[in-house]
Amino acid sequence: MPSRNKRILITGGAGFIGTHLVNALSSRKWEVVVLDALIKQVHRSGRWNPPPHVKFIKGDVCNKSRVRESLEGVNYIVHLAAETGVGQSAYEISRYVKTNELGTAVLLEEASRVGDTLAGVVIASSRAIYGEGRYRCGTCGFFYPSLRKADKLIKGIWEPQCPTCQRLASPLSSVEEQTPNPVSVYGITKHNQEELLRQFSESFSIPAIALRFQNVYGPGQSLTNPYTGILALFSTRLLSGNPIYIYEDGNERRDFIYVEDTVQSIVLALKKGFSKIYEVYNVGSGIGTSVEDIARLLLRIMKREVPVIIAGKYRVGDIRHAWADITKIQRDFDFKPRYPIERGLRIFAQWARKQPLPIDRYKKTEAELINKGLLLESRETSTD
Ligand SMILES: NC(=O)c1ccc[n+]([C@@H]2O[C@H](COP(=O)([O-])OP(=O)(O)OC[C@H]3O[C@@H](n4cnc5c(N)ncnc54)[C@H](O)[C@@H]3O)[C@@H](O)[C@H]2O)c1
Ligand SMILES: [Zn+2]
Repeated sequence: MPSRNKRILITGGAGFIGTHLVNALSSRKWEVVVLDALIKQVHRSGRWNPPPHVKFIKGDVCNKSRVRESLEGVNYIVHLAAETGVGQSAYEISRYVKTNELGTAVLLEEASRVGDTLAGVVIASSRAIYGEGRYRCGTCGFFYPSLRKADKLIKGIWEPQCPTCQRLASPLSSVEEQTPNPVSVYGITKHNQEELLRQFSESFSIPAIALRFQNVYGPGQSLTNPYTGILALFSTRLLSGNPIYIYEDGNERRDFIYVEDTVQSIVLALKKGFSKIYEVYNVGSGIGTSVEDIARLLLRIMKREVPVIIAGKYRVGDIRHAWADITKIQRDFDFKPRYPIERGLRIFAQWARKQPLPIDRYKKTEAELINKGLLLESRETSTD
C-alpha cells in the first residue's frame, strides 16, 4: 500500500461494495475520487452523500469527458461501476453490454492516457464467468456443464449430469484456471471486462487484477433493487410477513461473502497485488451454502416465522451451484474471511431491521419473469 496521499478512482463508489470500500480507504490516507452515475435502480433518491474528503463526480463511465476528469492525477483505479442483475441482463442486453463493456472500454482508453502515474487497476469481476462451474463424475472425470436444458428442468432434474454416462456427478468449487464458461449476459459482460483489462494491462504494462466476487451481502446492500441480492430479497419478504419462495428444490448452493471481507480482498489487491502484469483471483468464503439453509438461518436470526415455500419453480438461465476455491488469494495475499455466515448475517439482519420497510416487489418481478417466459414450473416437483 502506498504510504500516503495516493489518489484512487473508485467507479461505482456510491454503490453497495463501493461505499464500504470508500470508508475503508478514507481512513487510510488515500485521496479518493468517486465516479458514479447514481442509477435509479440502485439509488432511488438519486442522491448520495460522499464522506468528507471524498471527491464525488456524478457521471457515466461511458462518458469520455467525465471519465477523463475523474482520472486526473490518479495512481490507482478500482472499477466497480456496473449493471449487476443476472436475471435482468437476459432481456436488457444492450443496457448491460453498454455499461459493463463499453464503460470498461472508455475507462481503459482514458486510463491509457494517464501515463506513468497509473500504478495499477482492479476490477470487480464475478463468479458468473464460471457459469455452471466444475463437476466430477466418479467414472468419467471432470466436466464443465453448459446451461441446463429445458427438458431436464421441466422434469425437476436439477443437477447437471455427466455428458458421457449421464450419471449424477459431484459439484466442485471453481478454480481460477478453469476456462470461463458464462451462461448469462451479465456473465458474458463480466468475462469481457476481464479480457479488456488483460489486453490493456499487457499492452501498456500496467499491473491489473480481476477479483471474481461470489455473492456479496451485508449492510448497505440495496433492499429496493428487486434484481439483485438474494438475502435482501428474503429479508424484505420476511420483514413484510410474506412467505419466502425458493426456486428449484432449495439445494442449489451459493458462496456468501460478507461485504467487509470483500473490501479486505480489494485492499489486499491494492497493497500486495501489483507485482505481476495481470492476475485473476476468486473472492468468496470458500463454502457452498444451500439456498434453503440460508433462508432458514435468516429466519432464525431475525426471529421471524414465515413459510418457506419450495414449489419447484425455476428461472431459465440460473446456475445450479457456485462456490469458490480461495486457495490462490489466501496464498498470494494472505486473505482470510473474517465473517463466518452467522456473524455476517447477524450484522446484516440488525441493519435490515432498522431500514424503512421497502416495498416488496417480489410478485411484480416474478410476473415480469413469467411474462418473458423466464420463470417456469417443473411438472414433477410442483406442490402448488
Ligand atoms: N454484490 C455482489 O454480490 C457482486 C457479486 C459479483 C460481482 N459484483 C460486482 O461488484 C461491483 C459492485 O457491485 P455492487 O454490489 O456494489 O453493485 P451496486 O449496484 O450497489 O453498485 C454499482 C454502482 O455503479 C453505479 N453505476 C451503474 N451504472 C453506471 C454507469 N453507467 N456509470 C457510472 N456508474 C454506474 C451505480 O449507480 C452503483 O452506485 C459490480 O461490478 C458488480 O458486477 C458484485
Ligand atoms: Zn460419467
